[in-house]
Amino acid sequence: MYFEVDTFEAKDLALLGRANISAAGRTFETRTVFYLPTRAEDWARIRGYAGGMAGGPEEISDYWDARASNFLYVFSRQQNMLAICGYFDSGYIGQFIDPTGQTFNLPARNNVQERVFKEFVDRDGPLIRSWYPLLPSLIDHYDLYKNLSVARLIEQQATAPGEGLRILEIGAGGCLLPLLLRRVAGVQRYDVIDLPFVLPMGFAMMRAFAPDVPIALPNEAVGDAWLRFQSSDDYSIEDGVYDAAVNVTSFGEMSQAQVEGYFGLLEQALRPAGVFACINRTDKSTAFADYPWSKVGTEFVVDSEDPVSGYHHDRMQIMRRVVRRG
Ligand SMILES: C[S@@+](CC[C@H](N)C(=O)[O-])C[C@H]1O[C@@H](n2cnc3c(N)ncnc32)[C@H](O)[C@@H]1O
Repeated sequence: MYFEVDTFEAKDLALLGRANISAAGRTFETRTVFYLPTRAEDWARIRGYAGGMAGGPEEISDYWDARASNFLYVFSRQQNMLAICGYFDSGYIGQFIDPTGQTFNLPARNNVQERVFKEFVDRDGPLIRSWYPLLPSLIDHYDLYKNLSVARLIEQQATAPGEGLRILEIGAGGCLLPLLLRRVAGVQRYDVIDLPFVLPMGFAMMRAFAPDVPIALPNEAVGDAWLRFQSSDDYSIEDGVYDAAVNVTSFGEMSQAQVEGYFGLLEQALRPAGVFACINRTDKSTAFADYPWSKVGTEFVVDSEDPVSGYHHDRMQIMRRVVRRG
């Protein structure tokens, strides 16, 4: 749902942060609100996309069906601020972060995590710290770790025969990975497929933190777009041209049929010797071991527990695998 107001006043903010909101015949649980600075022209693009959207995805997993009912975008015209509700509903988000001091207070659980964390802070800290005061609820150490981890895998494993890498990401959410990869690797073009009501969030994140990057929403023709968003209910992807494809903690939230469908897409989209990098839980709605890996290839160039494994509030086990297209 997409709404706009003149200004967010203190009482509106309190409401968004604490209570349910009823609008257009629906009740939204808005406790998980976060705010992004958003220009009026970018909000107009989101409205343009949302207005032309079809009724919703043909097929949505039970997990995301439950979340869809909580998704709400509210734009403040005077403050140029977009409130996005519904992405996260877990209390652990941001609990270890002190946004005023911009420090991370979570002790590393083992040496690997300590090393990854240090590398991350040294290398990407300045970029990430500039996001933090605005985003304590959206981006936490865990999301940063896992996306940094997959950014490194792509840097190490993907090679571009020509001008630069072409990447396809399924389920990019808040677009942390394209934000990181645009700094750390020679990516020429980035395509994102995500749920239609989540795409505007990734778009708003990119516009807020990488305003120089040309982007196309699904309804837009932007000739020089570096990042193209496509909706999971209606995408068209070129065959055999992608050097790398990615899925980070997203297949685990789909149905097995959706995962199988995306493996079919990967089989078509990756060029020979292209890589698919995947970081997901061993078990959630679907099981990592049951993904149809052989559709992409049988050469696993990386196959191990991810450094973020066990780092989540529920200590879940997270696997990482990079498979090379046969
Ligand atoms: C837990 S979030 C992870 C987001 C991002 N990869 C990250 O690590 O920050 C799961 C993502 O999968 C997306 N997703 C769920 N079902 C999907 C589907 N059928 N097609 C594409 N994306 C989907 C969600 O919209 C969301 O962006």
